[in-house]
Amino acid sequence: MSEGDQRPIGVFDSGVGGLTVARALMDLLPDERLVYLGDTARGPYGPRSLVEVRQFTAEIVGWLAEQDVKFAVAACNTATAAALETDPIDSPVPLVGVIRPAVAAAARATRTGRVGVIGTVGTIGSGAYDRTMAAIAPDVELVGQACPGFVELAEGGRTTDAEVRDIARATLDPLRRQGVDTLILGCTHYPLLTGVISYVMGEDVLLVSSAEETARAVFRRLVDDGLDARRDPAAASGALHRFAVTGDGRVFGRLANRFLGPRLSGVGDPTAQVEPSVWLTQEEATA
Ligand code: DGL
Repeated sequence: MSEGDQRPIGVFDSGVGGLTVARALMDLLPDERLVYLGDTARGPYGPRSLVEVRQFTAEIVGWLAEQDVKFAVAACNTATAAALETDPIDSPVPLVGVIRPAVAAAARATRTGRVGVIGTVGTIGSGAYDRTMAAIAPDVELVGQACPGFVELAEGGRTTDAEVRDIARATLDPLRRQGVDTLILGCTHYPLLTGVISYVMGEDVLLVSSAEETARAVFRRLVDDGLDARRDPAAASGALHRFAVTGDGRVFGRLANRFLGPRLSGVGDPTAQVEPSVWLTQEEATA
């Protein structure tokens, strides 16, 4: 069996948020290795200028190219808005962002032609979602709403309590009154807030996650371009991933589990051999 293209996929974000995209990629493409860079020293990107974020993105893509990635994923809406959809950088490797896949999915899903998008101040202010929707589905009306504070809530692990519900209600109410039937989660942190966002918007509003849509787009692109890694089904499963940060690895490590999903511990015989998994490499990277 051909091994395909064994080079890793590069994934980057301003910090931990892009791990929701990494998680979706791991779920869909278990044979692919990821090299993840969280620019924690300079994140969050949301409040920064688009010019600055574009420059950071160009530097990071250059670093990923040096890691011999076959493909890079801008797993950050703000970076995608600045460096792919506003003033595209000249990338040394094929580069995919999170905005187009989500916009295309929302345009397909809406029944009323009224779609909402929520994101950071930088993303919504850039107009990147509006331009992309206008290009893909000019008949769809897009209503944007910046949600300052949501990133901090997700990173703080606060996703359900009464104050969070009040903040979500106050922030999303203008959008709710616009009567959108589909809502794009235009920030990598927001999948963690899906419960409260859905609770406030109502169950008739379909939520589109840019993380999941991007993972599906990457799957299609890898297969169509013959870049996918193919592993012998008899070989041990679980690709090894690398995680790097520009700031404090311990802070990243603490938050990473929340974004990558819970892990099992103390299950079964404690003397049993544990297969190496993504968690081991994550710990190595953050030790
Ligand atoms: N990852 C960013 C995004 O998706 C959110 C965090 C930040 O502001 O950098 O827009």
